[in-house]
Amino acid sequence: MTLELSKVDAIVEKMGTGPQLAIPILQAVQDEFRYVPVEVIERIAEKTEMTESQLYGVATFYTQFRLDPVGEKIVKVCHGTACHVAGAEGITESMETRLDVKDGENTADMKYTLSSVACVGCCSLAPVVMVDEKTFGRLDRKKAAKVIDNIEKEG
Ligand code: FES
Repeated sequence: MTLELSKVDAIVEKMGTGPQLAIPILQAVQDEFRYVPVEVIERIAEKTEMTESQLYGVATFYTQFRLDPVGEKIVKVCHGTACHVAGAEGITESMETRLDVKDGENTADMKYTLSSVACVGCCSLAPVVMVDEKTFGRLDRKKAAKVIDNIEKEG
């Protein structure tokens, strides 16, 4: 896949070039590409007053930034305290089997990324899975796999 670096140029043009803009620029490129590719960091460095290492520093410090490609849908299994107690480990295992990936990986068809995350803020529904912005609660292993079955059915 070739990256449209002109999109990076447009973002920088719109936002500016100062070092205080590292976070908003990285957020904007992540919104555009769904992650922050190496080539994009190089391009931002070319076009702004920031160096590649400054940009890497910011991108690796903040967990909101992803440096690797992600699937079309991100399946986040909550491993916060309430979900952990309610069996998050089993939910991750069930998702690993259903999606045929290990935690943190993308499926071969790049449809899904499986990821363990900290508390997503709806502990009363533990254990919880979020698929993109949608929340699924009170899951068990079977229901967790079903979440993916239903998404597949919806196409
Ligand atoms: S611990 Fe999972 S939602 Fe809070």
